[in-house]
Amino acid sequence: MDNIVVEGGARLNGVIAISGAKNAALPLMIASLLTDEPLILENVPHLADVELLIRILTNHGVDYHVEGKRHGQNGTEGRTIHFRAGQIVDTIAPYEFVSRMRASFWVIGPLLARMHKARVSLPGGCSIGTRPVDLFIDSLEALGAKMNVDGGYVVAEAPGGLKGATYRFPKVSVGATHVAMMAATLAEGRTELENAAREPEIADLARCLNAMGARISGAGTSTITIDGVAALGGTRHRVLPDRIETGTYAMAVAMAGGDVMLEGAEAGLIESPIAVLRQTGVEIEERNDGIRVARNGAGIRPVDVTTEPYPGFPTDLQAQLMALMTCAEGTSHITETIFENRFMHVQELARLGARINLDGQTAIVEGVPRLKGAPVMATDLRASVSLVIAGLAAEGETTVSRVYHLDRGFERLEAKLGGVGAKIRRVTV
Ligand code: UD1
Repeated sequence: MDNIVVEGGARLNGVIAISGAKNAALPLMIASLLTDEPLILENVPHLADVELLIRILTNHGVDYHVEGKRHGQNGTEGRTIHFRAGQIVDTIAPYEFVSRMRASFWVIGPLLARMHKARVSLPGGCSIGTRPVDLFIDSLEALGAKMNVDGGYVVAEAPGGLKGATYRFPKVSVGATHVAMMAATLAEGRTELENAAREPEIADLARCLNAMGARISGAGTSTITIDGVAALGGTRHRVLPDRIETGTYAMAVAMAGGDVMLEGAEAGLIESPIAVLRQTGVEIEERNDGIRVARNGAGIRPVDVTTEPYPGFPTDLQAQLMALMTCAEGTSHITETIFENRFMHVQELARLGARINLDGQTAIVEGVPRLKGAPVMATDLRASVSLVIAGLAAEGETTVSRVYHLDRGFERLEAKLGGVGAKIRRVTV
């Protein structure tokens, strides 16, 4: 098992290339199940979750190959991967896969739409709350599927195919929106999804599906209209830059100080985090080729932030912001509204000397002048990167264990941070 060791105190200067978004790549890859033609995805990040999903898709009958690097491309660019589900050989997604990554549950939508049946294990993934699947079940039921839970599996059947319908999500869910939208592309007639999630990754998936022949409008707003078609074809699509990775490195620069260009980042995808970072005193310059982040000398100002569905402040940056606030000049309040159990980083940050009190869903963070390095343990993907960020500003050495969480969602983290001057290394123990 690997550990990440960070020696705090180094300022960050230089360029970090932002990768393709994990949360866009996963649903796009799953969309390959909707057609027997090739779906070619560019800028796919090299991550454990992507590799696992490739294995899951091959289990259903998807063939894939990775395009070779072209002349002039360097090793840091995302890969181009061809997916082709010529024939679906299995409509079962077993526990051994789905328990390791929640998003793999999403295959239920395309399998049901194309094969009229699916049997998918109830999911696992990050241990951040109960994360039920009721919205998936209800929305697919609205599209005419018969849904049952049997022996730990969700069993979906629609012998005559899915039928378009109007469905209003009682709660905003990214995953359930992705799945209902994918399923409705092959349903008979019109589907209207109300109170849909508005994340950029949903609009990105809709753009790709439309290029495959789907008829979707309104993705990126809270009402999505889908006119079903008989079949979808292939296309070539480029994965969006990762807004969570962008926000994470912006917070790392805010924490450590310095001046870093986040190359390829799109400011339009992270307006809320940019506004929050500016409030903390960080300088952010939005440029055509990325975002420049700088903090030189000035202290970190405290902020009060509540996580919300997009376009609000993302829950996936909550832990990183909390790490930054541990060294703010004053008290900040961070309220989590998306997941009920997403404060597992609090006790680990406390091991570094942070002063944080929990009051229900709100963390009250009293800034301290300096953190002190210590051994800490990563508990989920975003929590683990918050510990790395805290380590950048802590006095002495911070060792983060269980970094397999990091490898699920951050491409070459130590190389990217090391490249701008952080003293960070991976140690195999
Ligand atoms: C996606 C992201 C994840 C991010 C989250 C919220 C991917 C691969 N993952 O996860 O990084 O943290 O959005 O922005 O894109 N819920 C229900 N019933 C359901 C489904 C969800 O109650 O059937 C609840 C969840 O428990 C949670 C809330 O809805 O409290 C939002 O979850 P959701 O948006 O579905 O998150 P994911 O799609 O799993």
